Amino acid sequence: MLSVEAVHSYYGKAHILDGLSFEVRRGEVVALLGRNGAGKSTTMKSVMQLVRPRQGRVMFQGADLVGEPSYRVAKSGIGYVPEDRRIFTDLTVMENLEVGRQPARKGAPDWTIEQLFDIFPNLKERRTNRGKHMSGGEQQMLTIARTLMGNPLLLLLDEPSEGIAPVIVEQMAETIKTLKAEGLTVMISEQNLHFARAVADRAIIIEGGEKKFDGSFAELEAQPEIRDAYLSV
Ligand SMILES: Nc1ncnc2c1ncn2[C@@H]1O[C@H](COP(=O)(O)OP(=O)(O)OP(=O)(O)O)[C@@H](O)[C@H]1O
Ligand SMILES: [Mg+2]
Repeated sequence: MLSVEAVHSYYGKAHILDGLSFEVRRGEVVALLGRNGAGKSTTMKSVMQLVRPRQGRVMFQGADLVGEPSYRVAKSGIGYVPEDRRIFTDLTVMENLEVGRQPARKGAPDWTIEQLFDIFPNLKERRTNRGKHMSGGEQQMLTIARTLMGNPLLLLLDEPSEGIAPVIVEQMAETIKTLKAEGLTVMISEQNLHFARAVADRAIIIEGGEKKFDGSFAELEAQPEIRDAYLSV
């Protein structure tokens, strides 16, 4: 579904992604792992064209996204939840969800607000609350739900377990499993190996903008030296 091919991305002169390649196949949940500064967020931004790769291709559904404006990347069916949740704090939960609404897309789940409330019961309870009166975890859930209102084929979640209470982290893991069961393809970035293993089918580890590992969690467990070298445990 998504194929990142030898991508090089920079911030000014700083060379961040160094020929990064990987694939995400339809229906799988992939975890992009790596330490602080490894390049996880830059990878997601390079898919969204918020950072424009200087070399390489980002193939999605057979078309190269490199050079497309970010709103077109979103319209082509990639939902993106950045590290810093961006809800509209003065709008209610319902209004935030309506803002995200896009037409149904062939091959992607077509979400209704009622279905999203089944997946995110906290949001249902708080549907008339304004965003600013919600906890960090609830804001994170709302950002994901609003992104799903766009009916994406592929969902990119940048560190969904970061900075939220442990009980919400567990809910978040259940949520991601539900989304996969509904047929969504998901890529998460994570530093939390435990969370990644609980939700993802496969791990991709990067360091210094280069891929260091790509395989199952069983394969990763069989190579503890890789975990020790590239992940903080
Ligand atoms: N806007 C920016 N301008 C310049 N350098 C940046 C910018 N954003 C990130 N970097 C640098 O790019 C490198 C990769 O950062 P990135 O945010 O992609 O890492 P990350 O793996 O997402 O880390 P974290 O786990 O802390 O979120 C780091 O060295 C970082 O300092
Ligand atoms: Mg990051």
